[in-house]
Amino acid sequence: MANILVLNGPNLNLLGSREPGQYGHRTLEEIMEDVERFAGACGHELQHVQENSEGVLVEAVHKAANDNVDYIIFNPAAYTHTSVALRDALLAVRIPFIEVHLSAVAAREPFRQVSYFSDIAMGVIQGFRGESYMLAMQAIINQIEPQ
Ligand code: DQA
Repeated sequence: MANILVLNGPNLNLLGSREPGQYGHRTLEEIMEDVERFAGACGHELQHVQENSEGVLVEAVHKAANDNVDYIIFNPAAYTHTSVALRDALLAVRIPFIEVHLSAVAAREPFRQVSYFSDIAMGVIQGFRGESYMLAMQAIINQIEPQ
C-alpha cells in the first residue's frame, strides 16, 4: 500500500465556476472524490490538501515527509511559475511527485510556459482538465505495480 498526497495550490478551490473554458466544469471536490475512489480500489491511501498560500503549501510538503508520504500529485497552480520556495521544499523532502495541470499550460501565455517543477518531477501531465489527476494516479500505480 502506498501513501499518496494530492496537493493543490491557489484558486483551485474555485474549480467549477473558475474559467470553465480552461479548467472544466467540475468542482475540486468532485474531481478528488473520483481520484480517492480510484486509489482506494487499488489499495492505496490518499489524502488531499488545497491551500491558497505559499507558506502553508511549503509546510504541507514538510508534513508529507513526516507522514511518510510515498508520492505527491502536485498542482502548484500559479506558484508553478514563481515558487523557488516550493521547489526547494520538494528537493528537501525528496518525495517523488507528478506535476499536474488541468489546462494545457504549454499552449497558454508565455509566463505559464515556465515551470519551477517540471525538471525535478517524475513527469508532467497537463491539458486533460480533471482527468489529469486520474492519469497521474494511474502513472503512480504503474510505478508501484509494473506490468
Ligand atoms: C493551472 C495552470 C496555472 O497556470 C494556473 O495559474 C492555475 C491552474 C492548471 O491546472 O491548469 O491556477 O495549474
